[in-house]
Amino acid sequence: MPLETRNIAAGRVQDKVALVTGAASGIGLASARALAEQGARVVIADVADEAGLAQAEALGAEISRFVHLDVSDPGSWRNAVAETLDAFGKLDVLVNNAGIGGRGGVADIDPATWRAVMAVNLDGVFYGMSAALPALRANETASIVNISSIAGLTGFKGSAAYSASKWGVHGLTKTAALELGGEGVRVNSIHPGSIATPMTADLSRGIGQIPAGRTGLPEEVASVVVHLASDESRFTNGASIAVDGGETAGNNIRGLI
Ligand SMILES: NC(=O)c1ccc[n+]([C@@H]2O[C@H](COP(=O)([O-])OP(=O)(O)OC[C@H]3O[C@@H](n4cnc5c(N)ncnc54)[C@H](O)[C@@H]3O)[C@@H](O)[C@H]2O)c1
Repeated sequence: MPLETRNIAAGRVQDKVALVTGAASGIGLASARALAEQGARVVIADVADEAGLAQAEALGAEISRFVHLDVSDPGSWRNAVAETLDAFGKLDVLVNNAGIGGRGGVADIDPATWRAVMAVNLDGVFYGMSAALPALRANETASIVNISSIAGLTGFKGSAAYSASKWGVHGLTKTAALELGGEGVRVNSIHPGSIATPMTADLSRGIGQIPAGRTGLPEEVASVVVHLASDESRFTNGASIAVDGGETAGNNIRGLI
């Protein structure tokens, strides 16, 4: 639909159907809520059954469902996409948000930690795009939003697997954008900086390197998810958008010490 003929009273993602992974908590939950506020029907997909179910119920059965999904399992993905189509009849937007941390540097990371982080953060995004693609392709326009990290834009000391997985998501996003852009499926990555969520609750991180002088809110990432999910961003494909208060713009403490 041409942008100029949209009903401007309608939501920014009115009548779209979105599946958000890791939506029981943090950035995924804020994204699911923001998409629902802007008119989408939303599938909350997570391994955390109790929290996910409660969040879907809070949004209301008319516009939301919970689906159990382990993103590292292709069979679980097939089921989640089938349940989405059963519930809402189509799928327009896939937000690959589920992710885990995992400490350890290049010299000392435990191989089991390496594999676990890769399985969720990188394999999970690949399996998700593969499983959702037939449904996404069925629409005139569709959008995949992959949540990477600033660890997918720079190095991250002490988090070798996490950084490698997030750079993997970055590369996979660019490649998918080239392959799918001609079919109306746009693929973009968001690179959050320090965002206050349960994942980062135990981390003590300095904010001197952040020009904004503070950590970010999940809602400040969610608003970019809505933009990329909506047709407002229909000429944006293969983009990598940092949502980091300026942290990766350059060296913010240069000249101060
Ligand atoms: N919080 C930050 O500062 C920050 C910064 C950069 C990137 N990110 C990325 O944003 C995303 C969301 O992080 P968050 O901070 O909201 O974390 P969070 O821990 O609050 O939420 C992550 C959610 O993912 C779910 N999950 C974990 N493994 C899963 C699996 N195998 N299958 C399905 N769901 C699974 C968890 O149950 C949880 O609900 C992650 O990809 C993370 O790497 C976060």
